[in-house]
Amino acid sequence: MNTQERMSRLLWRKSILALAVVILASCFGDAEAQRIAKVPSKRYTGPGTTPNLRNIVVGRCYHYMSLYPATGVKDCNRIWQELTDAVFRKDPCNITEEDYQKLAQVTEQTIPCDKSLLWSRTNDLVHRYTKATESFMTLEDTFLGFLFNGLMWCGRTAGPGMNYNACPAWNECANNSRSSFWKMASATFAKASCGTVNVMLNGSTDGAIARKESILRTVEIPSMNPNTVSNVKLWVIDDIEGQDKNSCNSESLLELQQYIEEHNLTYSCIDNYKPVTALQCVENPNHHACNQCSIL
Ligand SMILES: *[C@@H]1O[C@H](CO)[C@@H](O)[C@H](O)[C@H]1NC(C)=O
Ligand SMILES: *[C@@H]1O[C@H](CO)[C@@H](O)[C@H](O)[C@H]1NC(C)=O
Ligand SMILES: *[C@@H]1O[C@H](CO)[C@@H](O)[C@H](O)[C@H]1NC(C)=O
Ligand SMILES: *[C@@H]1O[C@H](CO)[C@@H](O)[C@H](O)[C@H]1NC(C)=O
Repeated sequence: MNTQERMSRLLWRKSILALAVVILASCFGDAEAQRIAKVPSKRYTGPGTTPNLRNIVVGRCYHYMSLYPATGVKDCNRIWQELTDAVFRKDPCNITEEDYQKLAQVTEQTIPCDKSLLWSRTNDLVHRYTKATESFMTLEDTFLGFLFNGLMWCGRTAGPGMNYNACPAWNECANNSRSSFWKMASATFAKASCGTVNVMLNGSTDGAIARKESILRTVEIPSMNPNTVSNVKLWVIDDIEGQDKNSCNSESLLELQQYIEEHNLTYSCIDNYKPVTALQCVENPNHHACNQCSIL
């Protein structure tokens, strides 16, 4: 064997050894990673806390104040603190609206009269509408709604910190960290609303226009103050391409009217409110319902 051959054999052995070390290391590494992933076990069926939640919430807080100076100066770190106080060290299926009372206080906001726009089953359209006009405000345009829209969070019984693995899904348990928050936020918004309160409903859905368990019926209507809310005005909007399953004179609307009046609130209703139809027509300009003469 000459020197060159010996060198290349040595190199060959070295690389085999290196390969073996890499394979062994990766086996142990996997086992370790799996062991960590198994604790804590995935107990809830919803997604876990949104990564970087703190940065998102605090960032949105400063962003909202710069967009709407009328909000005044809020303590963004205090808001984060109140959120963690509400959920840390607690069972995420045992969080109630009361747990969020402090958070509601530090995010308090004056809602201008006649601007509130509630909605049920028109999620997409209602937000396209408020973006287009800026004359109405949905829950997601309020300070509290803006801060937490689209985010997920829950704490852990075992100690402080959020659970980033899994959180209860919306209907997984009655009093969960997310549904209780949105009930509290909806109640706060409805209580602060005054003058005419508008409600965008979906005239193309099957069955009741507002389900018995909807936030509108269970939280928002009962939270309105009959002394400050002069009128609850329902807009029943059909999809341009969809069916007209419900309108102001259909049974399910009359039943909702009765429910509203039982809460000592005044009711009115309008079918296919024209400014909204005009917005729907932006995407369906050639539909016969979008004919100039039928809109105007
Ligand atoms: C739920 O939380 C409350 C306090 O927030 C506590 O008193 C109660 O024992 C808890 N219930 C369960 C079932 O964990
Ligand atoms: C109304 O409900 C129908 C049927 O559930 C749905 O397809 C449609 O997207 C809804 N319309 C709006 C504006 O959200
Ligand atoms: C949810 O919380 C309320 C108090 O806000 C309580 O009366 C009710 O029993 C709780 N429900 C469950 C299923 O824990
Ligand atoms: C509505 O007003 C009547 C008469 O003032 C009162 O007895 C009733 O409790 C009120 N209902 C609600 C839900 O506030």
